[in-house]
Amino acid sequence: MSTFRQTKVIITRRLPESVERRMAELFEVRLNEKDKPLERKALLKAVAEADVLVPTLTDSLDAELIRSAGPKLKLIANFGVGVDHIDLIAAKKKGIMVTNTPSVLTEDTADMTMALILAVPRRLHEGERLARSGSWEGWAPTQMLGSRIAGKKLGILGMGRIGQAVARRAKGFGLSVHYHNRKRVHKSIEQELGATYYPDLSAMLPEIDILTIHCPYTRETHHLMDAERLKGLRRTAYLINTARGSIIDERALIKALQKSQLAGAGLDVYEKEPFIDPKLVALDNVVLIPHMCSATEEARTEMGEKVLINIMCFLDGHRPPPDRVLLEEAL
Ligand code: GLV
Repeated sequence: MSTFRQTKVIITRRLPESVERRMAELFEVRLNEKDKPLERKALLKAVAEADVLVPTLTDSLDAELIRSAGPKLKLIANFGVGVDHIDLIAAKKKGIMVTNTPSVLTEDTADMTMALILAVPRRLHEGERLARSGSWEGWAPTQMLGSRIAGKKLGILGMGRIGQAVARRAKGFGLSVHYHNRKRVHKSIEQELGATYYPDLSAMLPEIDILTIHCPYTRETHHLMDAERLKGLRRTAYLINTARGSIIDERALIKALQKSQLAGAGLDVYEKEPFIDPKLVALDNVVLIPHMCSATEEARTEMGEKVLINIMCFLDGHRPPPDRVLLEEAL
């Protein structure tokens, strides 16, 4: 325990109170009281001084920053699942382990994805605006007509934990499940979900009514949904993204939406967060939310618990399974 107490853990953002309290009980902790993303200078200082850094997706831990880390820094215990903001190659070269917090946010993320899958085709956002506007003139047979969910084909790009959790929900809403993944999932999972596998993403796109994205953001998935692939979707199709903004070429998406090459989109993530392109905001057929899919009290607390466990496990000389980010798998 005494080695724990001497361990300097630098946390870059405010975490749930119970997590911060436990961190402070166990380690020598430095918190970010202001809860603003750390400036480059402050991040450089943090990696120079910390034994353990607890960053979030709002910190850019690029190769230069990691190379400048002090000799004590041995663990980057990320608060969150996605590690695209961390240069894993530089971390590996420097002998720094990287951990993340999978599983505990799967169900919450899948719920919000499902909410977007329902909201966009059924025009929930437009209805909500009309109800608030004071100009609603009452029920009418042809008012606010959207598109039926049941019987439609859902395409899932990335069939990991979250993709599968979305598929389970979607099945309950009468959607059929189609997916593209680097690796085909086990037969028993395909059977449970009634899922059809497409080894070729481009072959799946014209077949589906709604595409939802759940793959990690890597060099390979950068702009995976580019102008060409967006054209592959039907004009009546909807696109949902709760993974990472840059998996879609956002400019191409905006053009496709403006030209009605797509029926609509539901987005939780953007290419240059927190910037949201005003051209997206101006569109009626999109639902925009501010990167909040894992934002439940429960998920954020459990994510913090996972960070705590990963740090203790590491300090005790173990490799934190299964939260250790393996370079080979992440890239
Ligand atoms: C959220 O986007 C996460 O990566 O945890």
